[in-house]
Parts: sequence; structure tokens; C-alpha cells
Amino acid sequence: MTNKITTLGGFIYEYQKSVSHPEDFWSSIAETFYWQKKFDKVLEWDFEKPDVKWFLNGKLNITENIFERHMFERKNQPALIWEPNNPKEKEKVYTYKELYDEVRVFANMLLSKGIRKGDRVVIYLPMIPELTIAMLACARIGAIHSVIFAGFSVNAVADRVKDAGAKMIITADGGYRGTKTIPLKEIIDEAMDNCDCNSVKNILVIKRTGQKVAFMEDRDVWLEDALKGISKENDAEVMESEDPLFILYTSGSTGQPKGLVHSTAGYMVYTSYSFKNIFQYSDGDVFFCSADIGWITGHSYIVYGPLLAGATTVMYEGTPTYPDAGRFWDIVEKYKVNQFYTAPTAIRALMGYGQKPFEGKDLSSLKVLGSVGEPINEEAWHWYHDFVGQSRCPIVDTWWQTETGGIMISPLAGITPTKPAYATLPFVGVQPAIMNGDGKEQSGKSVEGNLCIKFPWPGMARTVWGDHKRYKKTYFSQYKGYYFTGDGVKRDEDGYYRILGRVDDVINVSGHRLGTAEIENAINEHPLVVESAVVGYPHKVKGQGIFAFVVCQELSTGGVEGIKTSVKKAVEKIIGPIARPDEIRLVEGLPKTRSGKIMRRILRKIAEGGTKDFGDTTTLLDPGIVDSIIENECEKKYQKKDKKK
Ligand code: WTA
Repeated sequence: MTNKITTLGGFIYEYQKSVSHPEDFWSSIAETFYWQKKFDKVLEWDFEKPDVKWFLNGKLNITENIFERHMFERKNQPALIWEPNNPKEKEKVYTYKELYDEVRVFANMLLSKGIRKGDRVVIYLPMIPELTIAMLACARIGAIHSVIFAGFSVNAVADRVKDAGAKMIITADGGYRGTKTIPLKEIIDEAMDNCDCNSVKNILVIKRTGQKVAFMEDRDVWLEDALKGISKENDAEVMESEDPLFILYTSGSTGQPKGLVHSTAGYMVYTSYSFKNIFQYSDGDVFFCSADIGWITGHSYIVYGPLLAGATTVMYEGTPTYPDAGRFWDIVEKYKVNQFYTAPTAIRALMGYGQKPFEGKDLSSLKVLGSVGEPINEEAWHWYHDFVGQSRCPIVDTWWQTETGGIMISPLAGITPTKPAYATLPFVGVQPAIMNGDGKEQSGKSVEGNLCIKFPWPGMARTVWGDHKRYKKTYFSQYKGYYFTGDGVKRDEDGYYRILGRVDDVINVSGHRLGTAEIENAINEHPLVVESAVVGYPHKVKGQGIFAFVVCQELSTGGVEGIKTSVKKAVEKIIGPIARPDEIRLVEGLPKTRSGKIMRRILRKIAEGGTKDFGDTTTLLDPGIVDSIIENECEKKYQKKDKKK
């Protein structure tokens, strides 16, 4: 396999080359891809504007690099293995040739519905093969896909469809997840009723659950009807290197989620190269990433990275604990998985079931384990290492973000010596910087601060859809000339990096990234709520839990518990079950400064169970509110009133 690093010395050598001569370095990687017209300049960049372009004036199509490039060698090799939610249902296996045919037919069908290069297509699907096929079909014709995680609900969907100006939505009647069925089409219908998304011309519906759905004539069409008579002959659209490949929405500290835009060539080069090297994928291996494609991990390491590298990738529809906590290990055994990539929250959840789920399962195919999405605590790291990896598989703790497109800090499996809870070293081409409180880069070892990146890498997002100013403000304005990640980090005496978690108002709940502002907006839509503040707090399984402090008008029927339940339901409906608060405390007011800013630091401390040492509280408008929140006075008062009634 070309461009594969196989030794620590090789890694150090390549890393140095990538830093001293980044253009030569990335050019030599990019040259191994198939270009309709080769790029004539490797990089143009300015982090102050910001403006980043890679592989300028190149022309290509990413799907030609997945299919045509591999067809001779891999025609009959499985590209995609799909494991259904219900273990009794039959799996589906697509060879490279079969997937190629499916993608081309789907692409032609999109063309027949009037979708053209640059149009946005929202994909709101469960983890079924059509999700991968639809993404690649969009890429084939140059349409920009925007996948929305199927766990998001009405308003979250409506906001994204509207912001993207989608021309088509691809969805399913429903989706299976464990014991649940999610009414996807119904959610789309409600989302469409709630927004003036008149850009949407067609809703394409795939049959999965067979449940009854409403159909709007002219607008809605079943996939099976749309595919009738469509041929598979299709020439890939010619794309420029910097043409957008997809938009993926992610949460930030403030406001609505941002649509991060990833480009074609840079993303292609980065995901493929990082995939091969970090997981040390070898020809013939089977790779299983348990993420949902609705998140960046699924985009980069279920779909694009593996398929670009000519790998066999496993896509699983269900949950880690359905029908029991041994399901992942059944899948590993069934497909002889060699690399397994999951999130710490799944590991912690499975830890709770002990050894039984492993009994009788053959995990000997496993060679590499990966972790992503949140800091992995040492206990989980050891359990993963000892029981899943049977003490013989290296763990790659991979740090990265929706914005970075691919893995940024991580060991190379079996090559970089690991340390529990450390993401270890920057990947090839990645130049991190740790900033101190004065906004200065700290050199040397044993330092701690905010994590920035000071040089572009090909996989980075290029802008926020429709709002370049916001892109600049969010990522390039805290530290001039640096990309700011939003994470805190420590570099130890060996130069190893340990990610400490977010330093902003983003929380990571079960590996799902959520903004506290978004959750507050949803809570505030409840008719009895005056205002609210949401903070994260340490949670044994989820990593972080959601704690909401809610100021209410007088309670109506149902009392304290009634209102808490209805607030949770409102959040589920507006954003989705992933954003449901774990804890709600009704309060009389929030701790605000005289200028009206909520002092979240205090609320975080209270959510963790703290009752004192709140630091400087002299700027609080009403210091008494802190004690009242700690003592839970508001709820006590309401409860007393309730009893009187
Ligand atoms: C966190 C997921 C510690 C981090 C790929 C980051 C991690 C956010 C790790 C991005 C890790 C991701 N160790 N923290 N290995 N990986 N994070 O955009 O806070 O969903 O900023 O991308 O997850 O989440 P996102």
C-alpha cells in the first residue's frame, strides 16, 4: 500500500518532512490519487483572512478515486458490509463493483430529479447502505450532501434544511435503533410544516420499516419508483479541488449549529492518508467504526477514508447493547474485524456488563482498537485494552473535530508508544500550538493551555456555510494567525499531548457534541419557562451529563416533577433525545453579573455537587441567589405550595 509509514523512525522522518517542506510532502501524497487534471500549486493560505486552498487548479472526482481507481484490483473485494439492527435479518455485502453500480444508478436518478452540481441535498437516514450510496451519488454529480443525524428531531432538522437551502431531502419511512423505531418521514413532514423551506423540491423516501407515511403528491417520491428505468452509465462530474464536497452541521458555544464546509481534494487526501496510517490498515483487513454517519467520524472513517484507501468497511445499523451487550463482539467475530473504532461512552457503558458478553466470542482477529469523541479515562482505556484487545492490540486515542475533517493527534497503531488517556503525538503535517492566558504560544514540554493549530492541513474545513465571518470569528479571532480548537490540552515531559476537554460552552454528551445555548433555546420555548442556563457535569457513562437550571413562572398543574418532565419532552421534540437534560433544577434566578452575564462557572460547580469555593463572586448582582440554588429553595417552596393545595 503506498504512503504507509511502518516504523517509528519512518514516522519521525515523515513528520519532520511534513513540517519543513509541507508542500512537497502533501504533493507527493496527492500525486498517488487520480486527477482529471493535476493541480499546479499545492497550497495558498492566510489564517488571518482566513483563506486556505490546497491542490489548486486540480480537477477530479472523489468517487473516481474510490471506484475507477480501485476497480481493476478490487472489483470483487467487499467494499461495504452492512450489519442490520436485528441480528436475525440478513447482512448485505457490496463489492467495489456492486457499490459502484449502486452509486452510479443513484447518481443518475438524482440527475433525473433535477439535482445538479452545487445543489444541496439533505440526507436524513438511519444507518442503512443507502446512506453511504446517497452520499457517494451526490459526490459523483457534484451535489453537496448534508447528512443530518437521524437522532435529531423536528426543529434541529428544519434549521439545517433551511440553512443549507436544500433542494432535496433523502429520508426513510422509519429507522430501527435497538428496540426503537424512529418515524423519520413524519419528523421531516413536521419539520417542513415548521419552516419555510421552499428550496426543497423533492423528498425521496426509502422503505425501511414499512410503516405508514403521509405522502405529498409531486413533492414526495419512493426511491424504488424513482429508480425505475435509470441506467448505470455515468460519467463523474468534473470538480475543482476546492469545490465543496459536503456540509456538516456542528454545535458551537453560541447560537445555531454551524454548517462546516469540507472541500473535495484536501479532504480526500487527508482522510485516506490518515486512515491508512493511524489504523495501520493492510490490504484485506476489515475495518469497523461504530459511529453514526450523521457525525464526522462516520463521514471520514466509515465512508470516505476507508473507501478511498480501498478498504472493507463495516456499517452497523443498531446500538451497542441490542439485543445484548455482546453485539459488538458478535460483529467482530462474524466479519473477522481487524480494526475496531468506537467512543469512550460505548466502552464505559459496556464495562458495566462485566465479562459475560465476551463469553464464547472469538476476538482474535482484532489488531487495532481506536477511541474518539471525548477524553478516554484511564479505567476505560485499561478495560478496552485488557478485555477487548486482550492485552495485545494497541489503542489509538484519536483527537480531532468536525472542523478538522480527519484525525489530528493520535498514535500510529503499534508504532507510537502509547500512554493511557494520552492522544500522544500530532499526526503528520499537524502543527499544534499551546497558548497561555496571555495569548502567547508556549514552547517546550510540560505546558498546559488552549490548543491551537498554526499551519493548515488539507482536511480542514474551509468555511461556515453562508457565513464566512462566523468562521473567522469562531476559529481565527482568539489568537491571531492560529486556528483555535476550543479544547484545553497538556503537553507532558515526553512531548505527549493529553486533551483536557472543551474550554468553551460546548459539551460532549455520550460523544455527541452539543452547544449549551442550543439546549437553552429549546428549554426556553416551553411556555412556563422564563429563562435557563445549561452546563455540563461529569457523568460516569456519558462522559458529560446535561444539567439545566430553569427559572419558571408560577407552576401550573403537575408541580415540580410535572414541569421537569414536560421540559425534557420539549427538548426531545425540538432537538432530539440526545439533548434531553439529565438533571433539572428549578431556580428563582440565575447567578448573573451586573452586566447581565450568567456566571456559568458557579453553576458548573453546583452541578458537580459543590457548595463552596466559588471564587470571586463580588461581581454578582445578587450573591444570595447562589445559596438559594444550592439549597434548592425554589423547588422546596413550590413543593410546599403543592401540598397546601
Ligand atoms: C472532543 C469528533 C479527547 C474534543 C471527531 C473535540 C476528544 C470534540 C477526542 C469534537 C479525544 C474528540 N480525546 N477529546 N480523542 N476526540 N474529542 O466535532 O472536545 O463531534 O473538540 O468531532 O470532541 O467533536 P466532534
